[in-house]
Amino acid sequence: MSEQRTIPTSLGLPIIGNFLKYQKDRLALLTSLQGELGDSFKIKIGPKILTVLSTPEDVKHVMRLNMKNYYKRTNFDQLFGKGVFTTNNEEWKVQRKMVQPLFGPRYIESCVPIIVEKTQNEITKTSSNKEIDVYDLYAKITFEIIIATIIGIDLSEEFEKLNYSLNTISDYLTKTNYLPFQLPEAVNSKKKEYAKCTEYLNKVIYKSIEVQKSKERRKNFSMISLMLQAQEECEDMKFDDQRVRDNIISLMFAGFETSALTLAWLSCLLGEHQEVQEKLYEEIKDFDVTDVKIKDLDKLPYLDAVINETMRLYPAGWAWTRVAAENDEINGLKIEAGEIVLVSPYLTQRSPEVWNNPNSFNPDRFIESDNHIKRQFSFFPFGGGPRICVGKQFGQIEIKLILIHTLQQFKFLKGNMPTPYPMATLQSKEGFHLKLKARR
Ligand code: HEM
Repeated sequence: MSEQRTIPTSLGLPIIGNFLKYQKDRLALLTSLQGELGDSFKIKIGPKILTVLSTPEDVKHVMRLNMKNYYKRTNFDQLFGKGVFTTNNEEWKVQRKMVQPLFGPRYIESCVPIIVEKTQNEITKTSSNKEIDVYDLYAKITFEIIIATIIGIDLSEEFEKLNYSLNTISDYLTKTNYLPFQLPEAVNSKKKEYAKCTEYLNKVIYKSIEVQKSKERRKNFSMISLMLQAQEECEDMKFDDQRVRDNIISLMFAGFETSALTLAWLSCLLGEHQEVQEKLYEEIKDFDVTDVKIKDLDKLPYLDAVINETMRLYPAGWAWTRVAAENDEINGLKIEAGEIVLVSPYLTQRSPEVWNNPNSFNPDRFIESDNHIKRQFSFFPFGGGPRICVGKQFGQIEIKLILIHTLQQFKFLKGNMPTPYPMATLQSKEGFHLKLKARR
């Protein structure tokens, strides 16, 4: 039994607590409270208290050791329905059992040529010596990849409309996602547009399910076709089209923006750290992207280190919450049923209690044996425990291939590091502006 402990509370202003600061920039507030109060603290927001836990041992308790007691409740439920991202307990287990095997090596290997083709298409259209927002470039690539590999039919004509819909939906849901209480409807003025975009997205997905149901279409290897197949083959998985839709929409949202943001932060870091960029270029310059086997990507240790170091400093999924189902004790800290707990890779991975020189960009720390990396949950950009990101391997391979391809063609020139802006994912206030210069 651990010794009892208490953690400090930031009360903020009377009645509203820290509501205004939290709404304005929750990352800035949480980071400054972490500096002031330490890695674990409570914070009053409006009428509720949020418990922020950032020591690796506390995070491990919530995400792994007693994960059954900490359930997910997000604003995204209304969009994702009852898919793998949003459900809990037995309902989640069934979904996970269905979706996880579909992301096996055979599926991922079959996605490689698609990733390479979509990347090549966009990279060849990119001009040299012109400033661009690299996020837009990567989002276009990862979006086309997710449509081709998850939905499996050509929707390139619909790109603008789909992109607009996903962004509108995401903005609307993010507005209240991290608040421990609901805002009144009137504050969420974009509800109508959200409803229109959701309707459009549903139409696209249901149409795709219909197309994929035809025998001919089944030959391709999209996630929808694999789900439909699993649905037919497994007696205990009686998923109707609605459930397939819920999972497909979850994978689309979870899968395209996270990879694009990681690539955008990474490119800006390489622009800032030219010596790292050159060392990485030396490692990947002769890598043959035309005939890749997944195992070839394991032979690039510096590439791994640069991606990990980027995800340590700028984890696309920067924080999430859980609700305690029953009273609990986390390493001596009492937690009451109904309490909302926030864990954040951003806070843990930049904690001076956990990492040496936490704010410096140093990929070599992932190559040299660094004790911090061995401490479980000191690095968890893909989450952890049984709910660890189901698309982790897919995302890692996608990021590697896109980056290798881009770096073989272009050099990132020196630019300014953007300021993080915390939406549901870690975006930037001013975009990701960089100049790319053709290498040949
Ligand atoms: C760099 C890329 C990615 C990052 C940083 C990332 C991050 C994360 C994180 C932090 C979680 C855990 C959230 C939580 O516990 O509340 C998660 C879960 C999830 N991710 Fe990813 N992800 C990435 C790519 C992908 C891709 C490519 C897909 C699918 C195509 C995907 C699908 C999912 C799903 C379905 C879950 C929910 C799993 C569950 O609850 O059982 N992710 N991801």
